[in-house]
Amino acid sequence: MVYSCFGVLNCCKEENALEPSGQAQGIPTNNVRLFSYNSLRSATRNFHPSNRIGGGGYGVVYKGVLRDDTQVAIKCLSSDSKQGANEFLTEINTISRIRHPNLVELVGCCVEGKHRILVYEYLENNSLASSLLGSRSKHVSLDWPQRAAICLGTATGLAFLHDEAEQHIVHRDIKASNILLDENFCAKIGDFGLAKLFPDNVTHLSTRVAGTVGYLAPEYALLGQLTKKADVYSFGVLLLEIISGRSSSKAAFGDQLLVLVEWTWRLREEDRLMDIVDPELTAYPEAEVLRFIKVALFCTQETAQQRPTMKQVVEMLSKEVQLNEKLLTEPRPRRYGPQHGAGASSEASSSSQSDKRMKSSANPDVTSTHSYISDSQTQMFPR
Ligand SMILES: Nc1ncnc2c1ncn2[C@@H]1O[C@H](COP(=O)(O)OP(=O)(O)OP(=O)(O)O)[C@@H](O)[C@H]1O
Ligand SMILES: [Mg+2]
Repeated sequence: MVYSCFGVLNCCKEENALEPSGQAQGIPTNNVRLFSYNSLRSATRNFHPSNRIGGGGYGVVYKGVLRDDTQVAIKCLSSDSKQGANEFLTEINTISRIRHPNLVELVGCCVEGKHRILVYEYLENNSLASSLLGSRSKHVSLDWPQRAAICLGTATGLAFLHDEAEQHIVHRDIKASNILLDENFCAKIGDFGLAKLFPDNVTHLSTRVAGTVGYLAPEYALLGQLTKKADVYSFGVLLLEIISGRSSSKAAFGDQLLVLVEWTWRLREEDRLMDIVDPELTAYPEAEVLRFIKVALFCTQETAQQRPTMKQVVEMLSKEVQLNEKLLTEPRPRRYGPQHGAGASSEASSSSQSDKRMKSSANPDVTSTHSYISDSQTQMFPR
């Protein structure tokens, strides 16, 4: 292992502009390709607005073309990321080691002056948010086999992050815009590990929630408790979005303006669960779609311990298993106040009272012979 950026300097001379006197000395960068700011500037035609493909909480994303004609997505991190070059490169090294077919690959980065830029593989079919849930102009019709593959691919990627990656990672922002689709509409999860690049937020886990409204697990939204099970909840919401073709963060349902999860429960009570299915889907295997909806209900159980692990979810989605619906508990209606998403303390205390009242119970029986035992609620990396 080369404990210097200069090894990389040698092999990527044209693109690397870290000065020998730069701040990144002593950091192993052998996993990461270092780009100069100038090379990324020319890849994006001076960050031309026509190359801008999106922007979110972490910064603006541009499409770029490298000198060797490789297309990349270039994410310029916002100034909230005040990390020094050393810390930044340490985190980047960790993220870039995490590779899986269902995770967006980090190609490299630029750390020059105050610039902190990430360079990712470019995914042709954009995000699930824009292709499935976006405006008409960007809408792509996805049939059931494609949607099922996206569900399973995302579950597999998330299970990898939770249990198999070198450092286990809670994604904390699973949502449709962070699921990218390649040329074959295979799903790849983006933005994993990014939270660590924003150190100001890192230490205040209980007072700062980073997820997105509509996807947040109750214990995370109200108490700031971040575990793998918060990701499982968000994944359940995502499943419902993929099945229904409706955005959880944008749509409200019925005269009571229910959120997607509540709406699904309402339909279940009224014995018309299949009404949740996207009307655009004309032909689909009913039993399989119903199983996917039920998996979503297990994932979005209010009590974290009642949710399956992502490994179990992969199994539930990929095999024809009988799910024991008797283990499902209907969620209480949730209404957030103005402090939603900020770990609101008054709500937190009342919620913790009610949490104590909640039944602790097992995860769903996936088969008659398997009984899943809930995994531990360990606080996870990152944050
Ligand atoms: N690797 C990529 N390939 C192609 N398009 C991408 C890639 N990464 C991001 N995008 C596009 O850029 C958009 C914005 O991404 P970005 O991650 O900045 O914001 P977001 O996902 O909406 O919010 P958040 O900051 O919370 O993740 C995405 O919705 C997607 O359309
Ligand atoms: Mg994103």
